[in-house]
Amino acid sequence: MLKLMKVLALVLFVTALALPMWLPNSVEGQSGTEALTTDMDAKTPNDLFNGFGALGTPIDECVAEPVPPTARGNGRFEDNKFIFSERETVADGLGPTYNDVGCVECHQSVDTGAFSQTMEFRAGHITNGQFVDAPGGQLIHARGTDSDIVEHITTAETVKAFRITTSTLGDGFVECISNTDLQNNVNAQPSAQRGFLTAVPVVEANNALRFGRFGWKAQHASLLSFAGDAYLNEMGITNKFDGTAGRSSTDPNAGTTENPCSTAEGVVNCTGAPFDPVADPEDDGGDVLAFADFMAATRAPGRQNPIPAAATRGDALFNSVGCAVCHTRTFQTAAPGTAINGGAFTVPTALGNKIIHPFSDFALHNIGTGDGIVQNGGANTANMMRTAPLWGIRARNRLMHEGLNITVFDSVQLHAGQATTARNNFNALTNAQRADLIAFVLSL
Ligand code: HEC
Ligand code: HEC
Repeated sequence: MLKLMKVLALVLFVTALALPMWLPNSVEGQSGTEALTTDMDAKTPNDLFNGFGALGTPIDECVAEPVPPTARGNGRFEDNKFIFSERETVADGLGPTYNDVGCVECHQSVDTGAFSQTMEFRAGHITNGQFVDAPGGQLIHARGTDSDIVEHITTAETVKAFRITTSTLGDGFVECISNTDLQNNVNAQPSAQRGFLTAVPVVEANNALRFGRFGWKAQHASLLSFAGDAYLNEMGITNKFDGTAGRSSTDPNAGTTENPCSTAEGVVNCTGAPFDPVADPEDDGGDVLAFADFMAATRAPGRQNPIPAAATRGDALFNSVGCAVCHTRTFQTAAPGTAINGGAFTVPTALGNKIIHPFSDFALHNIGTGDGIVQNGGANTANMMRTAPLWGIRARNRLMHEGLNITVFDSVQLHAGQATTARNNFNALTNAQRADLIAFVLSL
């Protein structure tokens, strides 16, 4: 008996050694290591930081103010996290119209940087068959610094869509995926399901084009560009990185300054005094660098632990019914030292050659849910949406871009167009298999 136990132990030991070799650990022949993950539990201290830049110590404002970076990567994570969590006021440049007072107000659950149920609202109309922004800009802010300028649109704006908050956790790794790897992945998809990669301007690299990967329309390729856009468009704070050329809009001048306000009396110029008294740019860029580096230094969302038996059973089904065609399981980030973002950023050691499991191809697809809104991806993207990355989905319960679905089952039923086959395959499963597949999704 004892001998049998010993043999068993040896077999287990050898299996454990061999296991990592069975896992996909090489893309294009370069060896990679699994990215650090967070357990998606806000009560666990210190499991958000992935090693990009310095960690620092938690900020106590009575002792010292946070210090923002002066260039990407040269600040401290705890300082950057504090700045990401600050609430801005009119004296800081908030408004004239805005959606909320701080990044963390919307990116908070289950941990700083992640998700919330907050939705933003976009609207426009069709002229000569093309989407055109609502007067004053397609983003219709929910709040304002003065009741006279709170935005109201007219019934002429017939294209309308809510967009729910997406999580930013692990986005530093996503930023470090090379264009080539995104392109190769899409090229390998069956042509009827092939995704469309957007080419979008990187603000800090003189608008050099790179494949977009962030946001529901894959409207940004760089975290610094997204952060500059969000500071301007979510909070009304103009900054060095808020960019030009219509990143959030079809209007080529959108983004350079706050948009005029679309009020009940028509579009009024609400920038400057009395509604927005702080001189532009309202932030010198320090805060934006802090936001970008905080997000870049967060770990990837990790799997549920332990993984339930049903989820293990559903794992293979996710591939066999065809979900993984668009919800790509694995990418490996570019090697450390690779210049990305139009040359404005170099892949750091902490983020390079890392294996991640985002369950997205970061490409746009027409699965019949398109919202009709065009941002910077071109007119053909009006009815396409980015494959929603499923990592961390167990910590969200408002699904699809409008956030109006509560169950994975209902979300799958909305998959049509390019995802029709996958939905039909899902529906052809037995009840028990469908439950296992859903358990798998909710273990991500
Ligand atoms: C009012 C709520 C709100 C605020 C405030 C807000 N965001 Fe967001 N954030 C969103 C929504 C909604 C999306 C999805 C937008 C879209 O794609 O249309 C998003 C998406 C993002 C993404 C893309 C993540 C991904 O992988 O898709 C980043 C990065 C981001 N926000 C950064 C920031 C930063 C930095 C700030 C602070 C300057 C900020 N956000 C403030 C609501 C908010
Ligand atoms: C042809 C590409 C494609 C295929 C195949 C596909 N999806 Fe999706 N999936 C998408 C896109 C695009 C979205 C975002 C749609 C939207 O929000 O309007 C999405 C969104 C989702 C969401 C919502 C996630 C969130 O955070 O809101 C879930 C859940 C989901 N898919 C699960 C599945 C499952 C399960 C399968 C297999 C049965 C599947 N998908 C097959 C492209 C695809």
